[in-house]
Amino acid sequence: MTTPVAQIVDAAAYAQAVEDAVRAAAAYYEGGTSPLDDDTYDRLVRGIAAWEAEHPDEVLPDSPTGKVAGGAVEGDVPHTVAMLSLDNVFSAEEFTAWAASLARRVGHEVDQWSVEAKLDGLAVAARYTRGRLTRLITRGDGTAGEDVSHAAGTIEGLPENLSEPVSVEVRGEVLMTTAQFEHANEVRTGHGGQPFANPRNAAAGTLRAKDRAYTVPMTFFGYGLLPLPDTDTALAARLGDLAHSDLMVMAADLGVNTTASTAAPGRVARSSEQVLARVQEIAALRAQLPFGIDGIVIKADLAADQHTAGSGSRAPRWAIAYKLPAVEKITRLLEVEWNVGRTGIIAPRGVLEPVEIDGATITYATLHNPADITRRDLRLGDHVMVHRAGDVIPRIEAPVAHLRTGDEQPIVFPEACPRCGSAIDTSQERWRCEQGRNCHLVASLSYAAGRDQLDIEGLGATRVVQLVEAGLVADLADLFTLTREQLLGLDRMGETSTDNLLTAISAAKAQPLSRVLCALGVRGTGRSMSRRIARWFATMDNIRAADATAMQQVEGIGTEKAPSIVAELAELAPLIDKLVAAGVNMTEPGATPPSPVGADAGSDANAEGGPLTGMTVVVTGAMSGPLEKLSRNQMNELIERAGGRSSSSVSKKTTLVVAGENAGSKRAKAEALGIRLATPDEFATLVADYLL
Ligand code: IVH
Repeated sequence: MTTPVAQIVDAAAYAQAVEDAVRAAAAYYEGGTSPLDDDTYDRLVRGIAAWEAEHPDEVLPDSPTGKVAGGAVEGDVPHTVAMLSLDNVFSAEEFTAWAASLARRVGHEVDQWSVEAKLDGLAVAARYTRGRLTRLITRGDGTAGEDVSHAAGTIEGLPENLSEPVSVEVRGEVLMTTAQFEHANEVRTGHGGQPFANPRNAAAGTLRAKDRAYTVPMTFFGYGLLPLPDTDTALAARLGDLAHSDLMVMAADLGVNTTASTAAPGRVARSSEQVLARVQEIAALRAQLPFGIDGIVIKADLAADQHTAGSGSRAPRWAIAYKLPAVEKITRLLEVEWNVGRTGIIAPRGVLEPVEIDGATITYATLHNPADITRRDLRLGDHVMVHRAGDVIPRIEAPVAHLRTGDEQPIVFPEACPRCGSAIDTSQERWRCEQGRNCHLVASLSYAAGRDQLDIEGLGATRVVQLVEAGLVADLADLFTLTREQLLGLDRMGETSTDNLLTAISAAKAQPLSRVLCALGVRGTGRSMSRRIARWFATMDNIRAADATAMQQVEGIGTEKAPSIVAELAELAPLIDKLVAAGVNMTEPGATPPSPVGADAGSDANAEGGPLTGMTVVVTGAMSGPLEKLSRNQMNELIERAGGRSSSSVSKKTTLVVAGENAGSKRAKAEALGIRLATPDEFATLVADYLL
């Protein structure tokens, strides 16, 4: 996890590095448009520190190593107590070494730590006088900061009034959640402004902007509570004596948002091992958090330990930031590819100048649709901020507008389908080839034959290509009328493979309706939605008879999705008729159709009284024992047969997480939220009657 150090070879390179770092830090703190991403900045500063260690007599006065990081802003409101920065560690070893040096300083091993997410925003001090928010100040150079009280009403989690009329200063981080960032850029570009490169820049720019024609919300997380000169003496003494974790409880009781409200709440740890375990848990939760974190802050929790350790001019000695690898890098958008999917959707994908993010080389990033490209004001050749966390597909956050040279070119949208040349249906945000699923027949048939749909063994993509090229199949239903002679006529098709394929195709006719529906590839419905629709309506006839209102009875289908599903099913009517004629099953075993009158929305046609009734279950890690051979899809089918609801993400609504070997972040999140966990064996016992 160690961030490599930038190599500085001589005094000139050192001077240049200091200049670059100072410029980047100033931009970072002022308007949020640093030309360096965080990782590059960290490497540069480490390189500067390494060179300074070798040449202590040549340290330049404005080196970023010697003062509060980035403290370049001239502030006009003095802080009552300096707003310090934090020193960093990048690995467990570095943390352990730091903890040992802290133990020497305080005279004993620290046995009460506070471990919290390091929120990736901007530090602010919020002054409350008799419970009312009176002033909001940025960190500035640490001794004085800028008055940004004008932003007060726009920051969620920072109340105008505390729940008690106390005078205190709340310190914490202002940031934008991912959703707030996207909203902010949409509003900003809508007003003719240039987009912000990432949520942190957006929060910095928004916090400092005065007379804007619009306001956009931000979020606050408190991480400090301290007295002001006019704080009641008893309260001031109490604030000075309380452990950090108790101060956080007090802040939350006063109505201030803290990490306690998140999936990665601050926790107390009793040893270095517990600290490191919690660091791993928070790191595993990172990709799923709705806001950015760039590390974990570890603090000696007890006031006594903090006092004994004291502070340096730049950072306290009792706290450290355990930095996580950067999830954002700046690179260039070279090209936009337009790919046609199995349903005929034409999806743009950004081709990037290869960039390494957290050990993986990223060359592509998702772009959602043409409207999204326009909203983000993306251009070819742009420097773009790319985000990649965990296993999530990398995404372009925004262009880095201030790095534009003027040579960037507009992104050209296709005028005809890039695959077959047909016209494009642009009536919805996601563009689609007018040939629909016939445009990319090979993709749509391969998907239909896949393991989680009709499960036709022996019908891989190569075979599908052969069938399509030979003109033997023009749609899904044609598969079911293939003859032995037709198949034998194909290259590399012997008697055995032909018979096996025919048997597999014949067996596929008996698949449950949910899988047939999924194989049809109705847009907006994947595997789990197809199961819900099939279980709710029980037969294809019922599904086809449903109008948009009836369709909305199915959980997860709202006013937007319902009409498009109904329309698409109407479009598929000839194909469905053909499948029925070929003898394909159109009923869902075990499901009973809804009663037409007073149907109870939300309750579905799942097994009444099954062991999982009312439960939402998430499966993660490798299954074993009786469940070993089940794919995720089959696990989800099992959950639903047993009366439960399957879900792929852990949230407060989850009731049970089945965690096998190598379960990662989902298990950690379940533990963080206190959700019941089961091993695959325990779960198999619970649902034994429903295993097929
Ligand atoms: S404690 C005296 N706790 O990280 C202790 N800081 O890189 C100073 N930050 O200036 C801060 N999350 O802006 C603390 N849970 C957290 C934090 C946090 C983010 C920021 C803060 C600080 C910077 C240092």
